[in-house]
Amino acid sequence: MAPFFSLLPLLISLLISPAKPFTVIVSDSSNQSALLDGPQTGFTMNKKGARTEAREQEAIYDIMRATGNDWATEIPDVCRGRWHGIECMPDKDNVYHVVSLSFGALSDDTAFPTCDPAKSYISKSITKLPHLRTLFFYRCFTYNPQPIPSFLGQLGSTLQTLVLRENGHVGPVPTELGNLTRLKVLDLHKNNLNGSMPVSLGRLTQLRSLDLSGNKLTGPIPSFSFPVLNVLDLNQNLLMGSIPPSLGSCRSLIKIDFSRNRLTGSIPDSIGGLRELILMDLSYNRLSSPLPASIRSLNSLQALVLKGNPMGSTTLADDAFEGMKGLMILVLSNMNLHGPIPESLGRLTSLRVIHLDGNRLNGSIPANFKDLKNLGELRLNDNQLTGPVPFGREMVWKMRRKLQLYNNSGLCYDANSGFEDGLDSSFDSGIGLCNTPRPGSARTVQHLSTPDRTTMPSTNQKSSGVGHKSSLFVRMVYQTLAVVLMFVFLGR
Ligand SMILES: *[C@@H]1O[C@H](CO)[C@@H](O)[C@H](O)[C@H]1NC(C)=O
Ligand SMILES: *[C@@H]1O[C@H](CO)[C@@H](O)[C@H](O)[C@H]1NC(C)=O
Ligand SMILES: *[C@@H]1O[C@H](CO)[C@@H](O)[C@H](O)[C@H]1NC(C)=O
Ligand SMILES: *[C@@H]1O[C@H](CO)[C@@H](O)[C@H](O)[C@H]1NC(C)=O
Ligand SMILES: *[C@@H]1O[C@H](CO)[C@@H](O)[C@H](O)[C@H]1NC(C)=O
Repeated sequence: MAPFFSLLPLLISLLISPAKPFTVIVSDSSNQSALLDGPQTGFTMNKKGARTEAREQEAIYDIMRATGNDWATEIPDVCRGRWHGIECMPDKDNVYHVVSLSFGALSDDTAFPTCDPAKSYISKSITKLPHLRTLFFYRCFTYNPQPIPSFLGQLGSTLQTLVLRENGHVGPVPTELGNLTRLKVLDLHKNNLNGSMPVSLGRLTQLRSLDLSGNKLTGPIPSFSFPVLNVLDLNQNLLMGSIPPSLGSCRSLIKIDFSRNRLTGSIPDSIGGLRELILMDLSYNRLSSPLPASIRSLNSLQALVLKGNPMGSTTLADDAFEGMKGLMILVLSNMNLHGPIPESLGRLTSLRVIHLDGNRLNGSIPANFKDLKNLGELRLNDNQLTGPVPFGREMVWKMRRKLQLYNNSGLCYDANSGFEDGLDSSFDSGIGLCNTPRPGSARTVQHLSTPDRTTMPSTNQKSSGVGHKSSLFVRMVYQTLAVVLMFVFLGR
């Protein structure tokens, strides 16, 4: 009885961006009003005598014409029209209603109708589709920049997914989108939207994913409280003000990305209540206060990225990360951190990536860092660290050039530690043997370098090359997290 399509969750969006590769969000197609069965395309529909509702059919012709897809107007029954990108469902009288429309060349294997980017627009006839649940436009209006039409707010009784990605939209996020109170996914990634985030979005209490990244939004982040929100992505905007404490009431958050904005103030204490959080990226803002003590209770966190915030002379409390037993990525570069590296970090044995470079950390590398068996990348360069490096041959060999220690005040390695044996022979670690005088760094470099000096790149070239590879690695881990997220969604 149940057709194949009702078993399949609706594929809602593929979020592709070069920096954070992708997130796949899947929602169920739970309770559906008067409609029977699951969504169907022309490929699966075979009910005898079924036909598309006449008004909706006219609306589809309008919408297709407005995107340069005039071919569709030749199709006598659009729900039987056999094109990807339209899904329909029958009611009890065997009349088909359009429930999903998608446009844009998303990938090689999704053949949604493409838009003529120079003259496409969203036809107002969309409001004549009273059963529409999913509306998806990808790279559609790029050369015909236009605002997001406020009439989309009239789809409030049914719309669950609104994706307008990389469409070149200009102007504000329409206040009317706050009328779409059944929305689960709102994705306006990478347009040229400006103005501030409308407070009306706070009415979208069923949202699971809100992605407004890659726009030019200004003003503060409103005090939202979304009970089931999993993903909140506002990266690459011009958002200002402080992070609202209400964020802590969005209890279902899995991913928060506010990176590359102009946020100031401190991370609110309430954030400690986010017990499902896996990824938090607040990098490249202007946050200035110490980390809240509550952050240590984020025990599901796997990636914490705060680099590029000029925290004023913060020292890290020894128990700052105590509860983060699952932490894999910790990126705290260029934050003006002072004082010692917390020894407690060495007990977070899931850690794979640690970046503490470009700070003013002093003291020595905690000896228990040698217990971080999963560590594949450690950047401690450009600090004021002293004393022996606690790694032997095996760990040094494993991390190779992803172990960056140069430009510290007095790091060294013990003669019998095996440290030097683990080094890539052409790699200058930037540190020398302990208990020998180091009159100048030039001497040290000479000491560690290979006889074949002609193949040795200069220190500068070296560090930039290594940095590139390392960030590639971070990207790969992000990708893994995205897959984790996908399974989390599938599991719900
Ligand atoms: C789904 O429908 C059933 C009855 O058909 C109802 O009991 C239930 O509350 C509905 N769930 C939602 C989420 O609307
Ligand atoms: C939609 O929202 C706007 C402003 O948020 C409001 O003025 C309007 O009445 C709403 N329209 C409908 C159809 O609910
Ligand atoms: C948004 O950008 C448009 C130009 O695309 C400009 O006319 C408008 O003033 C801007 N609005 C705000 C609030 O910055
Ligand atoms: C680290 O620097 C602070 C000043 O920022 C200083 O008080 C402290 O003694 C230093 N610790 C070590 C081990 O050098
Ligand atoms: C060494 O690191 C400090 C930060 O601790 C930085 O200010 C300085 O510019 C670095 N020196 C070089 C030569 O890169």
